[in-house]
Amino acid sequence: MTYTDKIYEVGERPPLGIIPRKMYAWTIRNERLGSPETAFRVELVDVPEIRDDEMLVYNMSAGINYNGIWAARGIPKNVVDSNGDYFDEKQDFHICGSESSGIVYAVGKNVRNYKVGDAICAGGSKYSPDDSDVIAGMDPCFSPSYHIWGYEGNYGAFAQFSRVQECQCVRIADNLNYDEAAAAYATGVTAYRMLTRWEGNTLKKGDVVLIWGGAGGLGLSAVQITAAMGGIPVAVVSSDSKGELCKKMGAAGYINRTKFSHWGNINGLSAREYRSWMAQAAKFRRTIWNIVGEKKSPAIVLEHPGRDTLPTSLFVCDNGGMVVLCGATSSYNADIDLRFLWLNQRRIQGSHAGTQKDAEEYIELIEKHDIHPYIGKIYNWSELPKAHMELENNIYNGKLVIRIGAE
Ligand SMILES: NC(=O)c1ccc[n+]([C@@H]2O[C@H](COP(=O)([O-])OP(=O)(O)OC[C@H]3O[C@@H](n4cnc5c(N)ncnc54)[C@H](OP(=O)(O)O)[C@@H]3O)[C@@H](O)[C@H]2O)c1
Repeated sequence: MTYTDKIYEVGERPPLGIIPRKMYAWTIRNERLGSPETAFRVELVDVPEIRDDEMLVYNMSAGINYNGIWAARGIPKNVVDSNGDYFDEKQDFHICGSESSGIVYAVGKNVRNYKVGDAICAGGSKYSPDDSDVIAGMDPCFSPSYHIWGYEGNYGAFAQFSRVQECQCVRIADNLNYDEAAAAYATGVTAYRMLTRWEGNTLKKGDVVLIWGGAGGLGLSAVQITAAMGGIPVAVVSSDSKGELCKKMGAAGYINRTKFSHWGNINGLSAREYRSWMAQAAKFRRTIWNIVGEKKSPAIVLEHPGRDTLPTSLFVCDNGGMVVLCGATSSYNADIDLRFLWLNQRRIQGSHAGTQKDAEEYIELIEKHDIHPYIGKIYNWSELPKAHMELENNIYNGKLVIRIGAE
């Protein structure tokens, strides 16, 4: 490996074996926290050194993700202040980006399955190889050292090079290009885990799955996975054009949520208001039954809007079914009517990112069914703040991707 002081411009790929000492990166710093439009800035920073279980990856493309929005705003936590909390060293800048595709440029001595020149896909799930829970065989996502790359840990994907652990990486599926590979990871693996990992409520052939934000990144992945596995995906969207896209991608039908208004907290509603809420929730459930063609409620509800939709999710879920939740776009201060939880023996299950095993299984599914993640827009390097604003403003369908080294 030869190190060089030469500065490579973004898109100009160093030959394998040559590692620049400096790289361009989109950083956030404490004094700039706020709108993604101004919080992100390009800086020349040191290329990070790798530890024994890590690899240096030249990023080709990266997925845009809500983590970047939360990080830029410093809400709900300041990631610049907390970026040394795990086993990384502390920095006064933070590089976001929790999903990328790229090429391995250097490997630590404990890396077993990858070598320089390999094309890989990196996801957010990081944990310490010394973690006793991981060594004991526990799901790494439950371990105390588990944290998210590019959010709870520095040197994320929005730079020419990233520092990643072997456990974060999988090979790129044979049928995907670099943009699709970057788009496949965070939302695809997250959706796959939500639908397949929670024993007793895993997706079975013929199961109805209600998918909020059906035309979003997570939503379209969930539609594709459910359809490929023989389930019946029913999408919820905010326009008919989004609904038609969901149908094209495999949904049995869609519900336009703008035709309902029973959103938000139910705590504090008067008896009359609650009756009206129930009437709308029941109409919403009938709309699902109409799409399915029988009185069959969702065995799984894929939740992520949070406060606005959780009461409805729990109400429409089948008896013994599961509301599985991985986010809270509308707010994490949500409430539910507990009667629907215990009387109907439903389950609310949290789910977060996915393990390397989840990712490997998902890659196999992608190849078997020739699944291509739906990319709403591809941005170039200089448009990263704009990409985050457009994600926040819910402008495009599917997944948003930024090109770094890819042509
Ligand atoms: N924990 C994890 O591992 C993980 C991984 C990936 C994503 N997430 C989380 O999942 C959420 C979605 O991510 P994404 O990448 O799919 O985002 P996205 O592409 O922006 O899609 C989200 C969709 O949700 C719908 N939506 C937004 N506000 C809503 C509301 N108040 N009520 C109902 N639907 C609403 C919108 O669709 P319509 O307007 O068409 O309804 C939007 O397209 C985010 O909160 C993200 O942080 C978590």
